[in-house]
Amino acid sequence: MKLEGKVALVTGSSQGIGQAIALKLASEGASIVIDYRSHPEGAEETLKQVNNIGSKGYTVKADLGNVQQVQDLVNAAIQHFGKLDILVNNAGVERHAPFWEVTESDYDMVLNVNLKGAFFAAQALVQHLIETKRPGKIINISSVHEDLPFPNFAPYCLSKGGMKMMARDLAVELGPLGITINNVAPGAIETPINTKLLNDAEKLGALLQNIPLNRLGKSEDVASLVAFLASEDADYITGSTFVVDGGLLWNYHEQ
Ligand code: BGC
Repeated sequence: MKLEGKVALVTGSSQGIGQAIALKLASEGASIVIDYRSHPEGAEETLKQVNNIGSKGYTVKADLGNVQQVQDLVNAAIQHFGKLDILVNNAGVERHAPFWEVTESDYDMVLNVNLKGAFFAAQALVQHLIETKRPGKIINISSVHEDLPFPNFAPYCLSKGGMKMMARDLAVELGPLGITINNVAPGAIETPINTKLLNDAEKLGALLQNIPLNRLGKSEDVASLVAFLASEDADYITGSTFVVDGGLLWNYHEQ
């Protein structure tokens, strides 16, 4: 087990990719802080499965779009387990709207949860690591859309583009402290964020044609990479983005 004795906070771990990451890190021996906003029953399910695996878990409710709640979340994690080693910034939202119809509240919601929340969660972890003079690992769940345009999802793309620079910039600033930061960039994964798409046979068919491996990804496809990046095997890796997308990102071809 690669994460024995470690404590990991996974934001948005009541469902989807976050839940799979929580379970994978637990199976590697980590104690897990399970964060949720609107699905307490999902968080309880994650906790139950973490316990079944034989690891410890602790659920905390927090809105990642609110900096005070983000800081309280990180502090609750430290209080409960006595320390925090790994932060997975997974919580994310997206809203579909043409650029000219994006409302201020949707813009704020997407940027606040996806980018501001990740930024201040990382800051709270780093303050704790500096105080306790320990190394640590930050993993952002970004998206292929940190590079790739996604029409009708402009605020989402802005947030993921920001996350890309967050990893690069903080890698330089945090390296001397022994803290690494990397991004995992999923493509189309079967999760609740994609429910609409999954129920639209035509759109789904068109998307599959763009994926060389010819299937949507599974949350577990993402989780295994996160577990590697959280482990000592990845100690020399920082400031990088790793794409998990079945080949979607580079699949441009002329007919
Ligand atoms: C988005 C999904 C989208 C996928 C591929 C993800 O970042 O959350 O809605 O299907 O990228 O475009």
